Amino acid sequence: MKYLLKAVLLCVLIVGVSSCKEQNNNEIKQAKEGVITDKAMVVSAHHLASKIGSNVMEKGGNAYDAMIATSFALAVVHPSAGNIGGGGFMIYRNNDGTNGSLDFREKAPLKAHAHMYLEDGKADGEVVKNLSLIGALSTGVPGTVEGAFAVHKKFGTMDMKDLIQPAIDLCIEGYEISKEEAIYLNKGQKKLDVLNGENHAYSSPNGEWEKGDIVKNMALGKTLTLIRDNGSDGFYKGETADLIVKTMKEHKGIISHEDLEKYKSVWREAITFDYKDYKVISMAPSSSGGICLAQMMGMTELYPIGSYGFQSTKAIQLMVETERRAYADRSKHLGDPDFVEIPTAKLMNKEYLKRNMANFSFEKANTSEEIRPFEEQYTKESNETTHFSIIDSFGNAVSVTTTLNLGFGSRVIVDGAGFILNNEMDDFSSKPGVPNVFGVVGGTANAIQPEKRMLSSMTPTIVEKKGKLFMVVGTPGGSTIITSVYQTILNVIEFGMTMQEAVDAPRFHHQWKPDSIKFERDMDIDKVTEKELNKLGYPSIKRGNSIIMGQVDAILVKENGKLEAGADRRNYNSAAGF
Ligand code: DON
Repeated sequence: MKYLLKAVLLCVLIVGVSSCKEQNNNEIKQAKEGVITDKAMVVSAHHLASKIGSNVMEKGGNAYDAMIATSFALAVVHPSAGNIGGGGFMIYRNNDGTNGSLDFREKAPLKAHAHMYLEDGKADGEVVKNLSLIGALSTGVPGTVEGAFAVHKKFGTMDMKDLIQPAIDLCIEGYEISKEEAIYLNKGQKKLDVLNGENHAYSSPNGEWEKGDIVKNMALGKTLTLIRDNGSDGFYKGETADLIVKTMKEHKGIISHEDLEKYKSVWREAITFDYKDYKVISMAPSSSGGICLAQMMGMTELYPIGSYGFQSTKAIQLMVETERRAYADRSKHLGDPDFVEIPTAKLMNKEYLKRNMANFSFEKANTSEEIRPFEEQYTKESNETTHFSIIDSFGNAVSVTTTLNLGFGSRVIVDGAGFILNNEMDDFSSKPGVPNVFGVVGGTANAIQPEKRMLSSMTPTIVEKKGKLFMVVGTPGGSTIITSVYQTILNVIEFGMTMQEAVDAPRFHHQWKPDSIKFERDMDIDKVTEKELNKLGYPSIKRGNSIIMGQVDAILVKENGKLEAGADRRNYNSAAGF
């Protein structure tokens, strides 16, 4: 209801009082829908990448072909997060109902070790500031390119060369940027100047980028051409690999030829669970996303949250408490499944989730001290991961989140190859109990080991309703990713929003530690609700000008079979389709 009131207010501002009267008479008309298409759609962080993916499908390609083309295009037009020097995850659901996932997350290099970010490399040393975040030592072995070829081998139908070529064209011919892109490229340029000098692949020829400039990246065009002509060997062997290893030597990194040659993505069973009439398909470890989402939704299902109202005191309380409990379990149990035993079934067990909520009461907040991780018995915010959602005209769907970790990753450019290396190593737990850049803590399950994957929060997700494709959803946002996906799904299922409204709605976040709720800067819960929450014992409510959570890019299959985009109002996300 509050959401509707806001829409009315907006409507008064936008269309004037007289037409708003008309809208007041029919609340349905208030719903703000995103772009609607009949058959196929891509929603991504950049209009050119969405268009390239959509073009592939118009030519007869499937969602997987579109995924590959969109991903390579994002590596060019969205360089802070789109990448070939990073990694990510893909969830898929085919039109026959089969589902699964690809883990193309980065891996720790062979020379990595548990104490590599501690003073003198010793177990009792303090964490050395920024060592896991800035510079080549923060880089994990990239997985994006190998992942794209793995997707193509299993599901692709078009010639790989034709899927990479549009990205090469963007590099060589260039693309025009908007004012917002100029601002963000200028910020990136400054970050990159520090480690790469002032004349690198992302430098403006005129000193600063401006609206209308044409951005080119010849070196990246050359690298993509090597990949086009030699397959993933064009990245993991030969000239590109030589340049990566050379860059490592220059910037005190440790990735070797052997690391690059050994890299393989992994097809994994997805995490699946039911929520009422819905089935949710999400990412298994090495991401924490699917298990945490299953826990949060499983605990939510025990309460009639829809009847509480969107962002009412009770709804916020319930969601904060499910988030608190899920992140507590995350800290202890989740890590790379190829290295640690994860009690997945126990963590998702409905009885456990019920027991876990036994000490929750609407009368008083829990504290994070009293919520312990399952036993046998904050977030610095940025939008520098990128998510895209695709549905093709055959009814296949893919949900892909990929990242360099922070914006422009390690800030190291592979000299001569035109791409930026990730700083994903910070997602490991550098020292037990010491928070990473997103404020999340971990222990031995997520300790550094050679060839291990660092724990992620990326949560690419697909939702079915009564056995049919219903939603494709995901977002960047570090540790807030899981809560953003959770809230977006509930906004549609429980609070009756359109896809666009659900994506645009303000969000909030709790992650067990620190014990505080973070509200997005424009989350205008009324003073009464805030006071009520304080009184109930949720004292630490953080709000700030810079707090923005995620950029959800989602697609909803409407009852009439049409597709509705939810392209996040936060930043320049865009939908394309037919
Ligand atoms: O894998 C993860 O969870 C993080 N590396 C994601 C980073 C991210 O979303 C940054 N942008 N907000």
